[in-house]
Amino acid sequence: MSATLTTPTTVRRYHVRTFGCQMNEHDSERMRGMLESLGYSPADEPEDADLILFNTCSIRESADSRLIAHLGHAKRMKRERPDVVVGVGGCWAQSVKDEVFERFPFVDVAFGPGQINRLAEFLTSDSLSAQGYFEFEGFPAHLPTKRDRDHQAWVQIAVGCNLKCSYCIVPSTRGRESSRPFEQLLDEVRALAADGVREVTLLGQNVNAYGRDLRTVEPLPAELLPYAEAAKRPTGLPSSSGPTAPSGPGVPSAEGRPAADASGPQARPSTVRPRPRTFAELLLAVADVDGIERVRYTSPHPKDIREDVVAVHATRPEVCQHIHLPLQAGSSRILKRMRRTYDRERYLDRVRMIRERCPDIALTTDIIVGFPGETEEDFVETLEVVDEVGFDGAFTFVFSPRRGTEAATFTDDLVPHPVKVERMERLVELVQRRAHERTQRFVGRTLDVLVEGPSRHDPDRLRGRTSHNKVVNFTGLGEPGETVAVEITSATSQSLQGEMTLLSRLGVA
Ligand code: 5AD
Ligand code: SF4
Repeated sequence: MSATLTTPTTVRRYHVRTFGCQMNEHDSERMRGMLESLGYSPADEPEDADLILFNTCSIRESADSRLIAHLGHAKRMKRERPDVVVGVGGCWAQSVKDEVFERFPFVDVAFGPGQINRLAEFLTSDSLSAQGYFEFEGFPAHLPTKRDRDHQAWVQIAVGCNLKCSYCIVPSTRGRESSRPFEQLLDEVRALAADGVREVTLLGQNVNAYGRDLRTVEPLPAELLPYAEAAKRPTGLPSSSGPTAPSGPGVPSAEGRPAADASGPQARPSTVRPRPRTFAELLLAVADVDGIERVRYTSPHPKDIREDVVAVHATRPEVCQHIHLPLQAGSSRILKRMRRTYDRERYLDRVRMIRERCPDIALTTDIIVGFPGETEEDFVETLEVVDEVGFDGAFTFVFSPRRGTEAATFTDDLVPHPVKVERMERLVELVQRRAHERTQRFVGRTLDVLVEGPSRHDPDRLRGRTSHNKVVNFTGLGEPGETVAVEITSATSQSLQGEMTLLSRLGVA
């Protein structure tokens, strides 16, 4: 099927619909930026657009079925207006690449995740006949981005994933892990800060594996030396560390700068071999960029969450008090079948390590219910871990087999649907109860809240977020992007309520 774009003299309009994760949200921002730089303007409804794009997800079956319903709608529009260009990008497109034009002949262009530059190539080419772009080419940097919020931005630090979780389609849709160069990322963050961004979220399938594939070797910054030394000791702790937070020569001070005597004996360059940059170093460097007030990231893998990253959380106020640490299951037997490479004890040990250094940090997680072979005992182990950790929130998923994954070939002991539903109800009830209990710790405290805009429920109030990633609805004054002090008056499992302290806006509090 082919289509032609309306003449360049008329304003061409685009509509992008996004499914899936934050990576896809970010890819969509980059699509919008690219399209606007090509002269397109946004259309709220697909009916008003000359170009309809679907940025797709394949992680669960439910996303597939929703997408197919939307594609049916696009097909009808294409029948009425044959000039409309229909594009399908992202993970689902990648996963059905061989069949996409066969199954959906009204699609004009299809491309894999992150291949936004290929979309630009297609749109500016002479022939708009069906074209597909599915090579993994790393991350095309230097594309314009149109952000939803002026003060918040995503920065993709790596693409792809080298792990082989048996349920996950991502390694086949996003390819092998590839980290973006350290300096390129810092330049991007500096440019964002200069453009008004106050909060960045670093994105990757396994963010804490950042840098392992980079070939460049660099000397370690002085502030991380104690952790490099510590890695050689059985305790994993810097020798100068106290019970909850590191201190002493070379450790980031409360202001985040290396202590004055950072060039002490531990900092002798000759004692430290040059090696690639790590995720902890990237966090520090991003936190150091002028104008950046908050740094978040998603998601780390529990097997790779180390002391150096947790130390950065403990010592740098810019690095948020929140870690999303996907558990997936609480039974070691199921974790093994999932090929998660950690067991229940190791996960709990990582949580203890995090909480020792950052007792107030918010922990959230992902959990899959009804994985093939999950018995009642296995599921009870998941409940036990959820109870013991006390997550501040959790995304819970019913297992769905994805094509090409190992778990899709497991045919023994499949969990019947009604059992999955019943387990999910029990899990959600516990997650919410524990989250509700956890959030009570904020009541009566005054927290820094980054304003996002009006509250969704009451336009007379404001909505913002704490460093713990908790949404706060509050009465007060403030512009999006401004940080204000809010006294928390009540808390549910999902959100906090509060009143802005008046002195906050005067800059006194
Ligand atoms: N079935 C159900 N949930 C899944 N996830 C990933 N693959 C599947 C699947 N096949 C969940 C995991 C992951 C989150 C993004 O989606 O919990 O962390
Ligand atoms: Fe994101 Fe995974 Fe869905 Fe791809 S498949 S959009 S990486 S959640």
